[in-house]
Amino acid sequence: ALAAAAERVAAEFEYPAEQINRAVHEFIREMDEGLETQGATMSQIPTYVTAVPNGTEKGLYMAVDLGGTNFRVCSIQLHGNSTFSLTQSKVKIPHDIMTAKTSHELFSFLAKQIEAFLKTHHEEHYTSHVEKRRRQSYMGKAYHEELEVFSLGFTFSFPVQQSGINKGTLIRWTKGFDIQETIGKDVCALLQKEIDALHLPVRVAALVNDTVGTLMARSYTSPGKTGTLLGAIFGTGTNGAYVEKLSRITKLSKMASKDAGDVDDSTGEMIVNTEWGSFDNHLSVLPVTPYDRSLDAESNNPGIQMFEKRVSGMFLGEILRRAIMDLVRDQSVPLFSDEHSNQNDVHSTTNIHDDSSLYKQWGLDTSFLSIASGDNSVGLKATRQTLDNEYGVSAASAEDAEAVRLIASAIGKRAARLSAVAIAAVVISTGKLGAPKDIATTTTHAGDAEINEDDIVDIGVDGSLVEFYPNFEEYIREALREVPEIGVRGERRIRIGIAKDGSGVGAALIALVADRVGKGPT
Ligand code: BG6
Ligand code: GLC
Repeated sequence: ALAAAAERVAAEFEYPAEQINRAVHEFIREMDEGLETQGATMSQIPTYVTAVPNGTEKGLYMAVDLGGTNFRVCSIQLHGNSTFSLTQSKVKIPHDIMTAKTSHELFSFLAKQIEAFLKTHHEEHYTSHVEKRRRQSYMGKAYHEELEVFSLGFTFSFPVQQSGINKGTLIRWTKGFDIQETIGKDVCALLQKEIDALHLPVRVAALVNDTVGTLMARSYTSPGKTGTLLGAIFGTGTNGAYVEKLSRITKLSKMASKDAGDVDDSTGEMIVNTEWGSFDNHLSVLPVTPYDRSLDAESNNPGIQMFEKRVSGMFLGEILRRAIMDLVRDQSVPLFSDEHSNQNDVHSTTNIHDDSSLYKQWGLDTSFLSIASGDNSVGLKATRQTLDNEYGVSAASAEDAEAVRLIASAIGKRAARLSAVAIAAVVISTGKLGAPKDIATTTTHAGDAEINEDDIVDIGVDGSLVEFYPNFEEYIREALREVPEIGVRGERRIRIGIAKDGSGVGAALIALVADRVGKGPT
């Protein structure tokens, strides 16, 4: 009964080729709509970054990164030969700060981390700055001493309406953050204010989404002949940024010039932050199971980020938890239970402890999906041990673990196949594979032919899901081959590479560009 029930639930997460194809077309439609109009489902945010690096950039920069699993502070030395060295510290953002009452609570926390980082890793710089400032205030306004100031790239991985390279207002929070007061405010100004309050030698020079940082970092470290097309995150959240033709971003020319900011049009291109987490919020093509539905209804942003809620790390554990608890509650399914019978009476007791986090919303971490899906141990020992040690399920049987593994794998695979929808749509809509006739058919022969370096479409990815979920990329590739406009040969032309911790170096690169242009409107 247990195996059959698990198979039934796993089947609810199947996502066949024909649904993928419908979703790809809808994705392309929503991308187009977002380029034309403000406030579309898919935000398609112009980033004001109009060139990707080529590896020769040099200098010492700072970057901070808010919006993934950790808050990071880093300093990055770009060596100019496609390599860099990075010093970093990271902390988890306390939950009460993610949902604080005021922006000040969050941004002063960030500034304090920057201060601690400078004191530890750049003490001389920090002390000389403080001394110079003291001398200046002592000797009066007329006295001037050159203050050395770090340019900082601020990776802020939430949807922001940008109006310049270091200027942008928060549209909405995602991924469990919820500080109402910040919405509509310029997040660079908020950070700069708290940095100044601590007298730190730091200027916020660039505002960067993590996907944009990932794209920049990938272009810096692996500058191919054709450059990198897409930077994508499959982590706590999911999103992508890609290189678009400036002429296709028609909403830019419709914006009032004060909102549109200065656009450097020398390259004819601009990186666009899609905010694809909000693809198909109206659910016209996305798959919907009862678990997706209840997860959304009980989230702090129902109806929003519907694609992200099926794809990314913040949500997959919760989908699995809901599926498991449904089975646990079903008296006819013996999951995590012992059956006792005496004479005519058969009853079961659960092996889940009362205080197990499985009973609580968000109580199952997505890392558990990776453990269960990738468990090759005899009798699924690793899964059973994790259930026991972390989730208060004692005496889980091999059958229990197998049921959980089956459902976890189905959820992970659906996430990867949905991720392929986004990748396929960007590759197709930018025309990077050429006209359909150039994209050989789906025969194996075409797939076997040599791929020319010029024909490679390069994609940089980052995030805990693509890094740790077993075979995530393989599942993406399998789905890409099922898209007729891509096929076997097109899939082989797509190169996917991890740009680990990329957004730190990416933010530094954008800070460098901002300095070079010398204006970065403030
Ligand atoms: C990190 C990047 O490596 O990956 C962040 O530096 C990004 O900018 C993060 O947000 C995404 O992964 P996760 O799993 O931490 O959300
Ligand atoms: C969420 C954010 C987006 C970010 C993504 C990945 O979708 O809205 O800005 O890029 O998570 O971190």
